[in-house]
Amino acid sequence: MAILVTGGTGYIGSHTVVELLHKNEEVVVVDNFINSSSEVVDKIKKITGKEFKFYEVDILDKEKLQKVFEENHITEVIHFAGLKAVGESVAKPLEYYNNNITGTLVLLQVMREYDCKKIIFSSSATVYGDQGVPKYVETMGRGKTTNPYGTTKAMIEKILEDLYVSDNTWGIVLLRYFNPVGAHESGLIGDNPNGIPNNLMPYVQKVAAGRLPELSIYGNDYPTKDGTGVRDFIHVVDLAKGHINAIEKLEKDKTGVYVYNLGTGIGYSVLDIVNTFEKVNGVKVPYKIAPRRAGDLAELYADPTKAKEELGWVAEKNLEDMCRDSWNFAKTN
Ligand code: NAD
Ligand code: UD1
Repeated sequence: MAILVTGGTGYIGSHTVVELLHKNEEVVVVDNFINSSSEVVDKIKKITGKEFKFYEVDILDKEKLQKVFEENHITEVIHFAGLKAVGESVAKPLEYYNNNITGTLVLLQVMREYDCKKIIFSSSATVYGDQGVPKYVETMGRGKTTNPYGTTKAMIEKILEDLYVSDNTWGIVLLRYFNPVGAHESGLIGDNPNGIPNNLMPYVQKVAAGRLPELSIYGNDYPTKDGTGVRDFIHVVDLAKGHINAIEKLEKDKTGVYVYNLGTGIGYSVLDIVNTFEKVNGVKVPYKIAPRRAGDLAELYADPTKAKEELGWVAEKNLEDMCRDSWNFAKTN
């Protein structure tokens, strides 16, 4: 009996595979390396001292995916595989809809064929859109998404809800991640985006390493404590552990559709990140104030109460851990 992890050599997937192996779960990973590398497989084995099966498979390839289910008794799927760059999704909507939506449809068809009906899906806080208040709670509906990437997340949530309506023997958990940062304490795995990063922490890392001259802080005139944007940054290891709790939930309750925010519930500003990163790592992060970035909200963070009450999960790592572990990974990679 194995747990299939799609996209398991990616940033969040690799940390989740580590946690699953620590729990002695049997794990099967598929990834096509479109945004990760084969080295991660060995790194996960090095961190855990455990073995797992890896298949280089594109989830769009139904026959290859069927073979994975044929060769393994898969009882649950954690589905990370997807494209995630917001800007790129605006330029390449067809590629994003095809990979994320069609990929998920193929996966669900194969799961149904093999009577595997438990899935945990990587959703995002982006599905809330602009709710007009900073604290996001699951009882708020999905809002208006602002880019094709976000739309794929909202659409896949809806597809999974419709699937459950058609067949209530499915067990489905939708996890809405806030802003994952940090890396495994070993420094072996972490977030390693290609090219110039869009997200804050990878950008800060490159500036600290001297590979980019300075950070542009997008706006210091927001109605927040210091004028810069506020987000719910969550350590990737805490996030990974949330998937273990979600698996336990499905093993206990078996069927239903459950949605949870995975965040700390604390909002930190862009300047908090810069200042903490400099302090804990003893490095400089030169920055300039730039105009606001189109589409950004002033402030958003999770209400993580539901995950605490129903999953027994809370984020344990603090901002210093996030900044220290991000740098520990960045300086060796
Ligand atoms: P990532 O790009 O590091 O990992 C995704 C993995 O999926 C990569 O290894 C990639 O090679 C693989 N992949 C993509 N398409 C595939 C396909 N068709 N077949 C097989 N493998 C495929 O991204 P991540 O940050 O680890 O994100 C994991 C999931 O969480 C994604 O679905 C992402 O949209 C979602 N998410 C991420 C964030 C974030 O900030 N990182 C926030 C919210 C939600
Ligand atoms: C973005 C995506 C979201 C995705 C998340 C993680 C949008 C609208 N949202 O969230 O869908 O799940 O990334 O991949 O794109 N900032 C700077 N300078 C920088 C980079 C960022 O000041 O160089 C600021 C931003 O203005 C924002 C904060 O840092 O206030 C966080 O930005 P970012 O890391 O890009 O995440 P989000 O925009 O919250």
